Amino acid sequence: MSIPNTVAELTEIDRCHWLHPVVALQQHERRGATIWDSADGIHLTDVNGHRVQDAFSGLWCVNVGYGQQSVIEAAQAQMRKLPYATGYFHFASEPAIRLAGRLVSHAPKGLTRVLFGQGGSDAVDTAIRCVRYFFNATGRPDKKHFIGLQRGYHGSSAAGSGLTALPLFHRYFDVPSPQQHHIPSPNPYRHADGPDDAAVLASTVRALESKVAELGADNVAAFICEPIQGSGGVIIPPKGFLAAMRKTCDTLGILLIVDEVITGFGRTGPMFACAAEGVRPDVLTLAKGLTAGYAPMSATLISEELYQGIAEGGCDGTAFGHGQTYGGHPVSAAIANAVLDLYTDGGLLTNGERVGQHFEAKLKELEELPCVGEVRIRGMLAAVELVADKKTKAKPDATLRMGQRVLEHAFENGLVFRAFNDDILGFAPSLNYTEADIDVLVDRVRASISHVFS
Ligand SMILES: Cc1ncc(COP(=O)(O)O)c(C=O)c1O
Repeated sequence: MSIPNTVAELTEIDRCHWLHPVVALQQHERRGATIWDSADGIHLTDVNGHRVQDAFSGLWCVNVGYGQQSVIEAAQAQMRKLPYATGYFHFASEPAIRLAGRLVSHAPKGLTRVLFGQGGSDAVDTAIRCVRYFFNATGRPDKKHFIGLQRGYHGSSAAGSGLTALPLFHRYFDVPSPQQHHIPSPNPYRHADGPDDAAVLASTVRALESKVAELGADNVAAFICEPIQGSGGVIIPPKGFLAAMRKTCDTLGILLIVDEVITGFGRTGPMFACAAEGVRPDVLTLAKGLTAGYAPMSATLISEELYQGIAEGGCDGTAFGHGQTYGGHPVSAAIANAVLDLYTDGGLLTNGERVGQHFEAKLKELEELPCVGEVRIRGMLAAVELVADKKTKAKPDATLRMGQRVLEHAFENGLVFRAFNDDILGFAPSLNYTEADIDVLVDRVRASISHVFS
């Protein structure tokens, strides 16, 4: 095959050979790809030279923005010095060791051990495997069931996709398994007991209690949730949700897995969202902002108690049979260390918190539009839910693709974000945004909504 050099050739190769995630495949063949070419700061440019402001940090991961020199230099230096080192069989590398220590020091106290992986899906898979191993190794082999939230997203691995509760990740994939269950999403805007926060919270606690009662506490391993449900439409549970779940899990004798693949690393303000409620999960999954998307990496943190149970399981000398070739990759780890420096010494967490307040004030103004049912926002993570009728909260006719059309219009006018299937617009600007950048974002969203709904 000759080297492709025109956009048309690239588009044709993509059409014929790249099976893309989360698109209707035949529709993609007809449409073709939007091919990114370069990025700088908070902007992306495609191969046709069309430049847009990125209001979604890639896929909620480029938390530090594009072109951060310190990150690029750390990657280059590590590639020159030691481009690969396994973590298997007692081997290690300096950047991964340093990173493990730094993650533990930033995480809620008591999460002491780190398993490295490549992305959020395998971080969740690792969480599931650790929990299973722990209960088997500590003489509770019946504890097999996992409970998650409707509209939750926990990746698309063979096991994790069943904890995910979005229909397209289930259809034809034979998940959820009989050991995977879901309770209603704590979404005050659409919950049967909403919008009162206390009622939604109480109802969610009751739902978990009754699901555990139905399955038998001795058969339930863990409850898993995101602090804010990202891919489910940026659903923000009532304040106190995580703390209430922690308390309920303790009472019921089940573990709590908190999936901070999106909410970690300043996305909602603090380094980790569970810190905002003083909650220490038994397992914490991290990815995305860990390397800010500059290289693949994830981390699953487990409590000392879990670690001790798992370690005891191998006291006869049997190795812990879990890991991946690229777990703890030294280049990814060097990148993550440089990214952590930007969050802390570089002031990005502080900037994100400050600019997040401006974002909230400005985005909330969109609620005055007749087609905006709700604006949800915490820090630099937000959604605008479009409705056909504000009073009844009825959705626009799905065939009209209103959310997609708002996105398409905004894209033409220099802004990219995410339009979820059900007319929810999602936003996750990078933490290096200025207040003026936020103004551009919100003004373009408003103009696009007004254009499409006019
Ligand atoms: C909460 C959560 N968990 C897990 C994942 C899966 O991560 P990845 O796409 O890196 O496999 C995602 C991805 O968006 C996520 O939002």
